[in-house]
Amino acid sequence: MPEVPPDLIDRLAAADHVAALTGAGISAESGIPTFRDPGGIWDEFDPQELANVDAFLDNPKLVQAWYQHRRQIVQEAEPNAGHQALVALERHVDRVSVITQNVDDLHHRAGSRRVVELHGNITRSYCMDCERDADPDTVDAAIQNGEPAQCPDCGGLIRPDVVWFGEMLPPAAVDAARSAAHAADVFFSIGTSAVVYPAAQLPVTARQAGAYVVEVNPDRTPLSDDVDAFLQREAGTALPAIVQALNEAKKE
Ligand code: APR
Repeated sequence: MPEVPPDLIDRLAAADHVAALTGAGISAESGIPTFRDPGGIWDEFDPQELANVDAFLDNPKLVQAWYQHRRQIVQEAEPNAGHQALVALERHVDRVSVITQNVDDLHHRAGSRRVVELHGNITRSYCMDCERDADPDTVDAAIQNGEPAQCPDCGGLIRPDVVWFGEMLPPAAVDAARSAAHAADVFFSIGTSAVVYPAAQLPVTARQAGAYVVEVNPDRTPLSDDVDAFLQREAGTALPAIVQALNEAKKE
């Protein structure tokens, strides 16, 4: 059982609001590749070729097929012990806000009740022109037929509901994330390389607002020297250990 800092447990036991920023690392143990680790997504694909609107307009079929491939990976994956530990934390803390950079829907599937999706959600698609939600089966059928998936209402191209490089993050999600960072008594940064902004600013904002900041990552990041506790462990090991230590502390 990895060592859990006693002051973290004391802070969690007294906390009204906990916020957790998560990145691809929390889903790594569900079999979903991260972006920047060796063998990660950006090792195999150039984000400039796929995850941006110009690439999409240049070759909608390729980009739609790539996201369909990623959707299949996500749909075959299951939430892991790290996702589930964040749900279990809701039994001890009145308000747990999960602020995720991930688009894999695993926090929702695990049962987290407050999920802020900073970068969207790959299981949703919409029409670029009329913005109507698109039926995933429509998209899959078009891709199977080797055609670009188009909106049945207006003929516009259908795109995944994810934030591409160069695009604005959903303002409501950014506002909710910043509010959670300001309000948090304890702020977790879990499984993120802490290099993509504005998400990477959130733990700094939380600490400046008085939160106890914890990083959970097997590797060091630019944030690691500026936190109250750095748990150099996988999320699937560290987070259940924290919840178990909190359970035991509450029994005393
Ligand atoms: N548990 C916890 N952390 C892990 C684990 C694990 N089991 N495995 C890997 N990690 C860590 C890595 O050490 C790394 O620091 O997860 C982090 C993953 O970093 P990235 O691949 O950069 O993913 P992320 O931080 O989510 O990227 C942010 O960049 O490309 C964009 O939109 C994309 O949302 C993404 C954003």
